[in-house]
Amino acid sequence: MRTSLLLISATLALLTGCDQGMDLDAPGAVNAEKLEQAASNDQDWLSYGRTYDEQRHSPLAKINQSNVKDLGLAWFADMDTARGQEATPIVIDGKIYITTAWSKVKAYDGVTGKLLWEYDPKVPGETAADACCDVVNRGLAAWGDRLYFGTLDGRLVALDRATGKVIWSKLTIPVGEPYTITGAPRIIDGKVIIGNGGAEMGVRGYITAYDAEDGEELWRFYTVPDQPGKNTAKHLKAAEASWKGEWWKLGGGGTVWDAMAYDPELDLLYIGVGNGSPWNQSYRSPGGGDNLYLSSIVALRPSTGEYVWHYQTTPGETWDFTATQHIILADLAIDGKQRKVLMQAPKNGFFYVLDRATGELLSANNYVATNWATGIDMKTGRPIENPDARIDQTGKPFVVTPGPGGGHNWQPMAYNPDAGLVYIPVQEASFPYFPEADWKSATIGFNTGMDFAAGAMPADANIRKASLASTKGALIAWDPVAQKERWRVKFRGPWNGGILSTAGGLVFQGNSASRFAAYNVVSGEMLWDTPTQTGIMAAPVTYSVNGEQYVAVLAGWGGSWAISPGIFSEVGGPVRNISRLLVYKLGGKAKLPPEPPLALLPIDPPVDNGTPRQLAEGGRLFGRFCGVCHGDAAYGSNLVPDLRRSGLLHDPDSWKAVVIGGMLKDKGMVSFKEAISEEQADAIRHYIIRRAHEDKALGDK
Ligand code: HEC
Repeated sequence: MRTSLLLISATLALLTGCDQGMDLDAPGAVNAEKLEQAASNDQDWLSYGRTYDEQRHSPLAKINQSNVKDLGLAWFADMDTARGQEATPIVIDGKIYITTAWSKVKAYDGVTGKLLWEYDPKVPGETAADACCDVVNRGLAAWGDRLYFGTLDGRLVALDRATGKVIWSKLTIPVGEPYTITGAPRIIDGKVIIGNGGAEMGVRGYITAYDAEDGEELWRFYTVPDQPGKNTAKHLKAAEASWKGEWWKLGGGGTVWDAMAYDPELDLLYIGVGNGSPWNQSYRSPGGGDNLYLSSIVALRPSTGEYVWHYQTTPGETWDFTATQHIILADLAIDGKQRKVLMQAPKNGFFYVLDRATGELLSANNYVATNWATGIDMKTGRPIENPDARIDQTGKPFVVTPGPGGGHNWQPMAYNPDAGLVYIPVQEASFPYFPEADWKSATIGFNTGMDFAAGAMPADANIRKASLASTKGALIAWDPVAQKERWRVKFRGPWNGGILSTAGGLVFQGNSASRFAAYNVVSGEMLWDTPTQTGIMAAPVTYSVNGEQYVAVLAGWGGSWAISPGIFSEVGGPVRNISRLLVYKLGGKAKLPPEPPLALLPIDPPVDNGTPRQLAEGGRLFGRFCGVCHGDAAYGSNLVPDLRRSGLLHDPDSWKAVVIGGMLKDKGMVSFKEAISEEQADAIRHYIIRRAHEDKALGDK
């Protein structure tokens, strides 16, 4: 009797303890029921992909095909950073929450645009050197009365949604390792699930679940096995045989840096797994092997993190062909049967439709041109590879289509269930993969086992013209049942924005030509288009307040494509980054301020007197350590300094102070002294002087 009374009071104490935390039934609280029923909630945008199936399709139809021409700017808000903006806003009860470059969070009134609060996690500038693809962040998750997001330097932070005050913060990565978080967390039944990036630097991928209440770690799922003998999880033991050599010393890769989706009925969490680390498989796993679970879609039990099934898109990947791209769940009628499917258009150029209960491949077809594989063998589910594209095995360079930017990258797709179409922001771009002969891992910068310097764009007008002409971007409408393109909108270049679909029969997308537009879902006809002064990469959202529908998009150019691919970064002219939240409504009358002039420094290098040895070494080191931010062949974008235009080319001491001394480290330009000597830094300066003269001779100003 006594004992049971004690038990009861202990239980009561526990319950009261819980009550002091989040009240999930309070008005306005985000809970499991709300997230599971988000499809019919037309006011809010509760999670990164809007619903657990991540369709990014809104039932709102107040703005529709007949009146979208009257869409105008309702309000805008300027950001305090001019690096890439990739976030999808979250909207709850008429308030918009966004993350920006450098992992800052901002809250606005959705009607007036008034800034309600902001939070800066003060990510150290040096963290930028651990990020493959700019200091971006893709968004937040909501649970109870809180918001959750990851920081570039690996923290998962819980904020009070009303005030922006920190409730808890947890480091999700080992101290000192080059992991970064750019993706949005997802929340299932009070578990905050977050992955990270870093496979270009040399890390081992994983995803972790934390208790939304207090940040306690609940489970961690690794995507790559540790060395044999050290693996306890069944799925990792099973994966050991698919690896060779001493991959664990190099990390192996397989980071989960973006896509997740959830099916509450099957209770399965789907994650997209990234590329190998290093890229070149002959170093990562000499002798080959499938290297599970790189480039795979994996289904997990969200309560325990237990493996359920996987499908590998690119066995033994060697081209940076991540399968981290957007995963959409839908129910499709295939061969007269209703199927629960999972769809993905990963970097490798093929569109996959899988049975999401079992992982069975239902169909696959290429959604862009591919030359690394001619198709997918439906019996084995494996790509039919072109042996020439296996640069890891031939040791010879090959121009592969698509390249590491992928046929489709992180930019979210959308699925319109009425039209039965998936809208994919695609790009057509090839890349010359040059396997590096005597590659050694470095403690700073990219570790890919590829020689970017050897593949750098030559200063040859004809080659440049031909390469530019074959590099394209488009919005395509894809029929996932027929595995066929239905329509296409062409853009002047790659790297266009993510997609929003609405029941108003509209597809919204921003683009690299600094426009924001709406298209007819069925025909692709452009129905509305407005100038934005800046390139747009992020996906728009829509919400309603007091019966009025709004469309919002976080504008601002950047990301890997904008900073690394040299002459391709701005096909057709410089793309601006004027980072701003743009919000539209019917009859909106707000006006953007006049566009500031683009003030580019002239290309004005000093005398070109580098020795052949300096030029060769400078070029090699630039390709290895600098090009990922300052552009292939030193052809920079206007987002990170274009070194051909730098005044420091004339000033060897200041050059040294930046490159070796780390003078600009707080702004994302770290010291490279652990990898290169002072003489080598100066050799890079001479190489860039040479490149500046070459490009000036080709007509660049
Ligand atoms: C992770 C990205 C990144 C990498 C890699 C990188 N840089 Fe930078 N660099 C930057 C950024 C960002 C700035 C601008 C900092 C600022 O706002 O002043 C910069 C600025 C500079 C500047 C100053 C230019 C000027 O005119 O103000 C020099 C010189 C420079 N970098 C040289 C190099 C060299 C040489 C390498 C390779 C050894 C390199 N950088 C690698 C991001 C990078």
